[in-house]
Amino acid sequence: MYKLAFIGGSIDSIAGYPHFIASQMDKKFEVLSGTFSTDAAINKATAKQWKIERCYDDYQSLIAHEKDRIDAVVILTPTPLHSQMIIDLLQANIPIICEKPLVGSLEEVAKIKKIYDPSKHFLVVTNNYSGYPMLRELRRKIASNELGEILSIRLKMPQESFLRPPKSVKYPQKWRLQDAFIPMINLDLGSHLHHLAYFLLHEEPTSVMAHYSSFSKYDVIDDVNMLLHYKSGISGNLWLSKTALGNRNGLHIEVYGTKASASWHQETPELLEFSYNTGEKTIIDRGSDIEIPPNTFYNRMTPGHPAGFIESFANIYNDIATALDKFHKKQPYLSEYIYGIDHAHFGLKLLHSASVANQQSTFVTIANGDTH
Ligand SMILES: NC(=O)c1ccc[n+]([C@@H]2O[C@H](COP(=O)([O-])OP(=O)(O)OC[C@H]3O[C@@H](n4cnc5c(N)ncnc54)[C@H](O)[C@@H]3O)[C@@H](O)[C@H]2O)c1
Repeated sequence: MYKLAFIGGSIDSIAGYPHFIASQMDKKFEVLSGTFSTDAAINKATAKQWKIERCYDDYQSLIAHEKDRIDAVVILTPTPLHSQMIIDLLQANIPIICEKPLVGSLEEVAKIKKIYDPSKHFLVVTNNYSGYPMLRELRRKIASNELGEILSIRLKMPQESFLRPPKSVKYPQKWRLQDAFIPMINLDLGSHLHHLAYFLLHEEPTSVMAHYSSFSKYDVIDDVNMLLHYKSGISGNLWLSKTALGNRNGLHIEVYGTKASASWHQETPELLEFSYNTGEKTIIDRGSDIEIPPNTFYNRMTPGHPAGFIESFANIYNDIATALDKFHKKQPYLSEYIYGIDHAHFGLKLLHSASVANQQSTFVTIANGDTH
C-alpha cells in the first residue's frame, strides 16, 4: 500500500473527506500523516477523527519529517496556495497528487515547469469526473466512431451556490471570492470542463470566445459562457455558473455526432443516453453490455446498487496507484486516465485566452502545446 500525507483537506473543508475515503477505498493507499488546516484546533480534530498519529503544524515541518516515510503528498489546500507547495515538494523530490486546478495562472505553471523534470518527479492532478465508468464508456464509443463524425460538444456546470450556499459546508470561503485574471469560477469549474472535453474528444480547442457576468452580491465573475473552435471542425459550448438556481451541481455533457448523440448528467451518473439517426433512443448503464476495459472496481457492487461521486474518485486513485507503480519502474506514468502538468497547462491557456476574449469581445487563438 502506498503511504499518503495530506496538506489541507481538514474535516472542515469541502474536498478533504472525499479524498480521505476514496484514496483508501480499494486498499491501494493509506493516509498516515498530514497538516490538514491552518486552524490548530481543526488540524488536531481532523487527525483525531481520522485516527492519524502524525499531524504537523505546517507543511514545511511535514516535508522535513515525512520526506522518507511517505510515497506521496496530496495537496488539498485553496487553489492560490498550490503553486508554492508544489515547488517545495518537487524540490524535496516528494511525489505529488494535486487537486484541480493545478495552479491559477500561466505564470505559476511556467515557474513550476522550470524545475519539474518528468524523469525525476511525479506530479498528477485529480480530475475526478473522468473516473465515472459511463464517461469512460462514452470516450470509447466516440473513439470507435459509434457516434459518427463529431459535430459539437456542450458541457455545462451550473451551480446555485452564490445565491443559495449549501447548508452542509462553509461556503463561499474567502479565497473563492478573489478573482485574478483567470476568475476563480473558471479555475473551480472551467478546469473540470476543459479536462472532460479533452478526455472525450482527445483534441484541444484552437480558439475561444467568452462572455463573463457577475450576478451575485459577491462582486466576482459567477457566470461564464464560452464558445470553442476545434481544428477538426467540432464546435464547443461551455457554461459555468454559480448563480443558476435549481442546480446543486448540474454537470451535464452532450456530444453530437452524425450517427448519434449522447447525453450524461452527473447527478444520474450511472445512466448514459443515446439518440440515433434512426430515431431510436437507448439508455445504457453498468448492467448493459458495455465494453470499457474490464475493471472489477467499476463493479464494487453489482449493477442496480448505485455508485457515485466517491466511487468515481476512488477509480481515479486506483489509476494513480498504477501511475505510481510505473513511476517506480522508471516508466512514463501518465495514461489515458491520469493527467499531469501539460494537460493542466493547456487548460490554463484556454481559461487565460477566455479572459482575453471576454475583454476584447472576439475569438482569441489559443497557443498550441503538447497536451498530455
Ligand atoms: N475535485 C473536486 O470535485 C473539488 C471539489 C472541491 C474543491 N476542489 C479543490 O480542492 C482544493 C480545496 O478546496 P476546498 O473547497 O476543499 O477548500 P476549503 O477552503 O474548504 O479547504 C481548504 C483546507 O486547506 C486548509 N489549509 C489552508 N492553508 C493551509 C496550509 N498552509 N497548510 C495546511 N492546510 C491548509 C484549510 O484550513 C482548509 O482545511 C481547491 O484547489 C479546489 O479547487 C476540488
